[in-house]
Formats: sequence, C-alpha cells, structure tokens
Amino acid sequence: MKAEGEVVMSWGLFNRLSRIIRPETGKTVMLAIDHGYFLGPTTGLEVPSKTIGPIAPYADALMATRGILRTSISPYGSPPVVLRVSGGNSIIGEELSNEGITTSIEDALRLNAAAVAMSIYVGSPYEHQTLMNLSSLVNEAERYSVPVLAVTAVGRDMKRDARYLALCCRIAAELGAHMVKTYHCEGFEEVVGSCPVPIVVAGGKKLPEKKALELTSDAIKDGAVGVDMGRNIFQSDDPVNMIQAVGAVVHHNVPVAEAYKMLQEAKKQKSSEKK
Ligand code: R5P
Repeated sequence: MKAEGEVVMSWGLFNRLSRIIRPETGKTVMLAIDHGYFLGPTTGLEVPSKTIGPIAPYADALMATRGILRTSISPYGSPPVVLRVSGGNSIIGEELSNEGITTSIEDALRLNAAAVAMSIYVGSPYEHQTLMNLSSLVNEAERYSVPVLAVTAVGRDMKRDARYLALCCRIAAELGAHMVKTYHCEGFEEVVGSCPVPIVVAGGKKLPEKKALELTSDAIKDGAVGVDMGRNIFQSDDPVNMIQAVGAVVHHNVPVAEAYKMLQEAKKQKSSEKK
C-alpha cells in the first residue's frame, strides 16, 4: 500500500537513481562531457580521455555518449554513467531541435548505464518529435527499470526565464522523466516547486570560478538536487580542484567564499609543488 503522493517506482529504478544521487546527502555532482554529440571537439574535450581521467573520480556520475565511453573512459572503477541517447543534429545544421534517439536501451544496459538522458526542445520547430522521443524512451526504459533524465534544451531564440523553464520541466515530468536537467534562473524555486521530479542544473558557458560556485550554491538553495556541470569544470585551469569545490558546495553546503578560498589555496599548493 502506497501513501498518497508517494512515488511508485521499482526497486531497480530506486537503486539506479541512488547511484546518481548520493543517498547520504540527497545531492549529486554530475560531470557533463556529452557536448561533442552536437558540438564536436568542444574546448577542453578535444582529447576526452586526457581531460576526463583525472576529474572523473570526483564526480558522482558522468553524462556521456556511448562513443566517448567506449573510447575514452576506463570501465574499471568509473563513476555511474548517465548515457546520452539522443542526437542526430549539429551546431551548424539547419535545425538544432531535430533530434532523434540514437542508442538502444539494450546498448545502455550493455554499457551498465545508471540512467539514460535525452533532450527535449519545447517551443522549437521539432518540439513534438522530441516530446514523443521522450515518451517512447520512458516506455522502453521502464521495461528495464532504467531512469530517464530529460534535458530541457533551449532553442536559439528561447528565453530562459522561470515561466518557460517551469513549462519545460513540468512537461518532461508529466511525460514520465524521472529526473530533469535545466538552467538556473531568477525565480528558480517556482521551477522546482512545480516539477514533481528531481532537478539538476546545467552550468552553461564558462564563467569565472567564483560565479560558477555562486550558481551552484543558488541552485541548491533554490531546491535543485545538484548540478550536471561541464564547461565550468573541464574548462577551468584546475578542473580537479574545481570539481571538488563544486562538490563541497553541493554536498556539504560550504559557503561560496570558503569553497573559492579552498580552490585558490589548492591551486597555489599545486603550483608550488611544480616549482
Ligand atoms: C547539452 O545539451 C549537454 O547536455 C551538456 O551536457 C550541458 O549543456 C551541460 O554542460 P554545461 O555545464 O557545459 O552547460
């Protein structure tokens, strides 16, 4: 018997989600390294194995495509994987929102994915197609108790405000996504409050490190369960210490000023060791 409002999920789904969201803190630091699926060799990820290897041990989960997993990430002791399974578009293509599902659920299982992820483009020319992709993926993934993370990708002309992002997140949850990834914005509490599944926040374009830590802290204060951060970690001049600073804010509520100081001190220590 389930209490009213209690989410009905299988043991397998809960178990997989608990590999991504740390049960002891209820939070997660996901490392997003899936950019190449439509951006090609993104700055910092030109040779993925070089960048990812040293940072991966500090991530609670990696968000990547199967191509990068197979070629660039050691299967031994890798963090759980949230497998990007949508694509078929490119940054120079005619229409960014024209995505399909690229990877079968069987392949996700062969790769031991903890979850699968795909983008929806609400308000874009291929809105319907991407929403139906999500619905079909949830149908497939639920057969094997694999959670689905929906990424609320934003078309070139879309405004990232609370009204729009709340619409995207709620639609994703209504269609069955078990987690949603979106952008932080002013009034983000409203986005979280009207989305019945956990939300992780994307980092977006590279910011000064203190700003990226502020974004992280604001997202957590406003109710996100964590971040799914890419460029603000792997484009940092010290990605290993940056991801640990982000982790301190996410998991231990370390104030931004303190996390930033820790980062600066770790950098100093590193450079004095090099001399
Ligand atoms: C975009 O659709 C991809 O899912 C990226 O993983 C996402 O943008 C997060 O990375 P970043 O923190 O660099 O924005």
